[in-house]
Amino acid sequence: MSSVTSNIESTLHEDRVFAPPETFSRGAHIRSAEEYERLRAEASESPDNFWARMAEELHWFKKWDTVLKWDAPHAEWFGGGKINVSDNCLDRHLETWRRNKAALIWEGEPGEQRTFTYLQLHTEVCRFANVLKRFGVQTGDRVALYMPLIPELAMAMLACARIGATHSIIFGGFSADSLRDRINDAGCKLVVTADGGWRRGAEVKLKPTVDEAVKETPSVRTCIVVRRTGTRVHIEAGRDHWWHEVIETVDAHCPAEELDSEHPLYILYTSGTTGKPKGILHTTAGYLLQAHLTTKWVFDLKDEDTYWCTADIGWVTGHSYVVYGPLSNGATVVMYEGAPNYPEPDRFWRIIERHRVSVFYTAPTAIRAFIKWGEQWPLKHDLTSLRLLGTVGEPINPEAWMWYREIIGKGRCPIVDTWWQTETGAMMIAPLPGATPTKPGSATKPLPGIEADVMTRSGAPVGPNEGGYLVIKRPWPSMLRTIWGDDERYRATYWSEIDGVYFAGDGARRDADGYFWIMGRVDDVINVSGHRLGTMEVESALVSHAAVAEAAVVARPDEIKGSAIIAFVTLEGDRKATDGLKEELRRHVAKEIGALARPEEIRFSDQLPKTRSGKIMRRLLREIATSGGVQGDVTTLEDFSVLEKLRVHEEE
Ligand code: WTA
Repeated sequence: MSSVTSNIESTLHEDRVFAPPETFSRGAHIRSAEEYERLRAEASESPDNFWARMAEELHWFKKWDTVLKWDAPHAEWFGGGKINVSDNCLDRHLETWRRNKAALIWEGEPGEQRTFTYLQLHTEVCRFANVLKRFGVQTGDRVALYMPLIPELAMAMLACARIGATHSIIFGGFSADSLRDRINDAGCKLVVTADGGWRRGAEVKLKPTVDEAVKETPSVRTCIVVRRTGTRVHIEAGRDHWWHEVIETVDAHCPAEELDSEHPLYILYTSGTTGKPKGILHTTAGYLLQAHLTTKWVFDLKDEDTYWCTADIGWVTGHSYVVYGPLSNGATVVMYEGAPNYPEPDRFWRIIERHRVSVFYTAPTAIRAFIKWGEQWPLKHDLTSLRLLGTVGEPINPEAWMWYREIIGKGRCPIVDTWWQTETGAMMIAPLPGATPTKPGSATKPLPGIEADVMTRSGAPVGPNEGGYLVIKRPWPSMLRTIWGDDERYRATYWSEIDGVYFAGDGARRDADGYFWIMGRVDDVINVSGHRLGTMEVESALVSHAAVAEAAVVARPDEIKGSAIIAFVTLEGDRKATDGLKEELRRHVAKEIGALARPEEIRFSDQLPKTRSGKIMRRLLREIATSGGVQGDVTTLEDFSVLEKLRVHEEE
């Protein structure tokens, strides 16, 4: 069914429903649909009291004076409170039996293993916090982390949080230019990196990229380097220091700073519809509260669990569900550095079997790859330790959901499909595994305290099963507070598209049972393997090449990645369209942004189809990229012949 007003059409039809297994519900934190409804009702009748009651789960140096001050679109949560995230993730467990419980179990791609108990992790974090202080990092300063997935990354995050420095993690796949821009945008004083990391048997060098980036980052005074791969790297005297050397120069005494509830915890850059990434700002108390609660509710996390979220910490999923959420719950967290198919396509199942993982959280793109590699790989392993499966990052197609349920979960494990964003900080729409019946492909219902809705572009509600725009109608504790250095853009992007509500940028519909079905981005953002990329970013990178006059980038559905990037390019007059140039342009994008943005395909054309007002008609390009033909309305086209030429290229 579709709605004329919203222009979003939903075609997915799915009738299967899976009730929570009785044995699961019996032991769950939230045991029934009634209990969930009670929490929802409590939260919607008296949100402040509800969140205040929930906030009692955290450790506070001083309790808050007010729960929420909302001066739209700016929120202050738990004003007057004093709290520290690192204290909540570490110190408070030291007073309990968890002191010697495993906090992190890490596996490197080549196979080494390192385990840190809560006490050991605390010691390492305190020492690194003292290193940061030694190099002049103070409360409020920004620190960039550009690292592989190794324990030191979690330590560096918690050390920043401990002293009130704001971290900005830049995923290790980003290029020197991307790194430089992000460091400069936040004015980072110090960079923590490593010589390199391992991925699919090869070394991914990081330090040379940092060397390149910091040539043009005047704010950076110090660079701390973890020795991970042992490769030779340049050490700039006075600026660069080895982690293992400086850590020896400090002691392990470093009390956690008593920070304001709204103290900036981290900045994380994400793609938007313009070329410049947005520095999403998250603060302390509200963020921690929602990361903590959703980890407990949605993963139904218990002390006996061994929990593994496969996300890289460079993305928000790693922030909230590898580090802050699980550690504040005192969980045992598995971390794995490398690729899922190294040395063979059963690495994940090997890890689950070896560590007896009970709660497993991964992405639909990974599940689709596992399906392609074949079920013989998971079937080789004992996966009986699993009791709950989760997914995040993009819509999961029902058939992949069913495969996950049958082949990995053996029909026993509930699946939690969790919808949220970098901006929301924590899960927003997701099942409670002991309470919510699930439907393959639906993230089910909003969590208690979250008021989600589907609306038309003009803000009118839509009926059951009509497509529309996903919005959030009330502020929530872990919401982004602003875009770093650009509050106007924050207002314009999230709070001005539809009056009075948060605009998520996703299309959705709600069925007759109130279940949400997320349909993907409605803006110019492409979701490649669960990673967000703005079409504008890729276009800007292409146009920065001397041969390119104009470029338009669209998404084409891809079996494994969800979407693949297809670029339409017009060349400068004197340049020849050759396969060599295509390759060069693909490399150029990888250099400008990072390998994850490399277009799958480049198509040359003399002109791009445009409306009379000069806007590129991406809808047509999308159609051409997907099917090779065009059926849509073309009366607003500037030059009809352009379409013919694009089709001719398709046939070549
Ligand atoms: C998409 C990742 C459908 C969505 C946590 C959102 C999803 C964007 C789901 C945010 C899901 C995330 N079902 N789509 N369960 N989870 N998305 O900021 O388009 O990297 O807006 O945060 O991913 O991506 P981000």
